[in-house]
Amino acid sequence: MSASVIIGSDPSGAPVPVDIEELLATRLLVQGNSGSGKSHLLRRLLEESASLVQQVVIDPEGDFVTLAEPFGHVVIDGSAYSGDEIARLAARIRKHRASVVLALDGLELEAQMRCAAQFLATLFDAPREEWYPALVVVDEAQIFAPAAAGDVSDEVRRLSLAAMTNLMCRGRKRGLAGIIATQRLAKLAKNVAAEASNFLMGRTFLDIDMVRAADLLGMERRQAEQIRDLARGHFLGLGPAISRRPVAVKIGDVRTRARNVIQGLTPLPAAGQDMEALLLAEPAVPEPVPCAMPLGPEAADSGELLEQIASYVPAGEEAEVSTEPSLFAAQEQAAGVSAVLAELAAEPDCTFQPVAALFQDFTLRCRMKRIAGHGLDVTAFRRRFALAVAGADEADPDWAELLRIAGDVQDDLVAPFLVIARAAQRGEPCPDDAELSRIYGTSSPGRIRRLLEHFEKAGLIVVRTDFGGRRSIGIPALGATTAPVDQDVTG
Ligand SMILES: Nc1ncnc2c1ncn2[C@@H]1O[C@H](COP(=O)(O)OP(=O)(O)OP(=O)(O)O)[C@@H](O)[C@H]1O
Ligand SMILES: [Mg+2]
Repeated sequence: MSASVIIGSDPSGAPVPVDIEELLATRLLVQGNSGSGKSHLLRRLLEESASLVQQVVIDPEGDFVTLAEPFGHVVIDGSAYSGDEIARLAARIRKHRASVVLALDGLELEAQMRCAAQFLATLFDAPREEWYPALVVVDEAQIFAPAAAGDVSDEVRRLSLAAMTNLMCRGRKRGLAGIIATQRLAKLAKNVAAEASNFLMGRTFLDIDMVRAADLLGMERRQAEQIRDLARGHFLGLGPAISRRPVAVKIGDVRTRARNVIQGLTPLPAAGQDMEALLLAEPAVPEPVPCAMPLGPEAADSGELLEQIASYVPAGEEAEVSTEPSLFAAQEQAAGVSAVLAELAAEPDCTFQPVAALFQDFTLRCRMKRIAGHGLDVTAFRRRFALAVAGADEADPDWAELLRIAGDVQDDLVAPFLVIARAAQRGEPCPDDAELSRIYGTSSPGRIRRLLEHFEKAGLIVVRTDFGGRRSIGIPALGATTAPVDQDVTG
């Protein structure tokens, strides 16, 4: 598995990779004016690396919550929990390696800083055995690590700044890699910015920011003008995880969108409308009192969220067999898992996919169906998937017998064995090579021939070809034989 992801292309159209492993060790700073495309860039990086590494997003605008559906990030609405609850959630995130988005859009500035500080400090303080690698992405980092005292109390500023400094300066050893984005370098605390060795600089108008950006990129001051001329979505990149020389990158497309984006101009209401009357009209129903809380789906209580985090399976990795209580009753859960397996097995060409990709797909589908902790590791999954491909139904006594005699057959061979044995049990025609190839996930007739030879050597089957060239296969353990069938494909 490659540890690089493509973030975009250079002026010649060549892909520009970012080495995620190197990024974990050397961190990243993104700067650009509002609308230069920083959040888009972070989203691209997050989407592309979602299956490679745990991700924690500190999201002041609540933009990244849309990662939840396709990538399974757990969303934590920062406005819905107490400080203690946030700390408990953060501790569990380290333990279970869950990818999360901490959405802070429902909070006032000071509360955003407090919440992020508590959250980051707890991630940082995790016990040594939980120092797994994770990208910690902080958008609008100047909020949490301001260069100068502002409107918030000194105590909150100190807390927040300390958490960000720890993340950037001492996080690496603990597996935490800071990726921070800011509109203005001059507004970001110097010691926080200084710890990043990778930079992606977007369009920057103010001289003071441009000069700092040019310094970080090692560019001559007079070359710095080009930073002013960068188009939206274009960045200059430098650093051990990106390139040894400054490289121009156009950031590639993303699969998800920020929540509530307004695209371009929206037509104004027709001029004829009596706006005054509309504004002054009595409301038909009492209007809600404005409050700082976000409108939208209600936040889960913290117990439910802890459970979601506990059942989180890092994308692309094996599941821990969950011992946590599940949201579903056990039976309902088992039925849900079987349904997902059947759905997956019905996908065309599924048997040709590598098991890791199938397992990831399976985990994602379970999550979409809110099956918390499907309880399978990759080995158990492989077997269950093979049974699903063969169409096995454990509740059916005929199938139970077949599964018993297939008990010792290897996981990767069990599906073709079962379809042959099933045909024998019912006295149906022997599956032809094309069908066996589909079930086995091969396009090579030679492999099917070797598979049958292997089964025969193991005493599982007896192949018989009659003088007319028709093949039938007997299953000694069943005392049954398939009906003979013409073989067009013999390899
Ligand atoms: N590489 C790109 N390709 C296509 N669209 C892009 C690209 N980069 C940015 N955009 C679009 O431009 C708009 C502004 O981008 P984005 O929100 O990422 O800017 P930003 O730098 O985060 O701004 P702010 O600092 O105000 O949050 C968005 O609608 C985004 O979808
Ligand atoms: Mg942004």
